[in-house]
Amino acid sequence: MDLKDQIISERIPRHVAIIMDGNGRWAKKYGKPRVFGHRNGVKAVREITETAADLGVECLTLYAFSTENWNRPRLEVNALMSLLVDTLRIEINSLNENNIRLNAIGDLTKLPKRTYETLMEGIEKTKNNDRMMLNLALNYSGRWEIINAVKKIAQDSKNNLIDAENLTDAVFEKYLTTSGIPDPELLIRTSGEYRLSNYLLWQIAYSELYFAPIYWPDFREEDFYKAIIDFQQRERRFGKTSEQL
Ligand code: IPE
Ligand code: IPE
Ligand code: MG
Repeated sequence: MDLKDQIISERIPRHVAIIMDGNGRWAKKYGKPRVFGHRNGVKAVREITETAADLGVECLTLYAFSTENWNRPRLEVNALMSLLVDTLRIEINSLNENNIRLNAIGDLTKLPKRTYETLMEGIEKTKNNDRMMLNLALNYSGRWEIINAVKKIAQDSKNNLIDAENLTDAVFEKYLTTSGIPDPELLIRTSGEYRLSNYLLWQIAYSELYFAPIYWPDFREEDFYKAIIDFQQRERRFGKTSEQL
């Protein structure tokens, strides 16, 4: 039986988050510079975006650049930012053809001007699409996001817009960059690393974690199906006992 046929269509995660890792090591394996890996990583982004949309995933959040990634060699950072601009420009039409809405989370105003403007243009041009949201985490880190939320809450509290005494999960969530988006049910990390690298720390409180032992540029449609099938076989208890479910 095809992998795809093993997927239970009624139990597709609404939100899948991915840590696309291993581009540099993939390139090294071929004796090429790291940017060669990033360029090939874009092909995987394209394939997985279409696969997720076809399955009926509502939101796909991809970790594209962390706040810590600024510490990489300047050449690599510049190459990543240029690649992002080029890719967005090329892909906007196909996002529209596929009815996919672009969104971004992170400290976006600190991105280089050209990157920021291209991103905003892409978001604007795809804003009416409603099949799936492609959400790029850019200059993102979970701790930045939480601190940012706390700062805004402190400000609103000072202005009597919120009563900090009554702060709940639901209210706090409204201050996060993912406000309005359900928490990811599934988090995938490629490259064989078992860590979160400051990704969606609040939102993944109850996500199922899936680690693929392959580099991101090698991650194909079938690998995504495998992750979904694995996810569907898990028992999500949320603190309860099996018998209660
Ligand atoms: C992921 O691949 C892409 C980004 C972080 C932008 P890496 O560049 O981290 O590749 P490895 O992990 O060094 O192999
Ligand atoms: C996480 O990958 C960030 C992205 C995929 C954009 P890293 O390669 O930067 O993570 P660490 O440093 O290995 O934890
Ligand atoms: Mg890495």
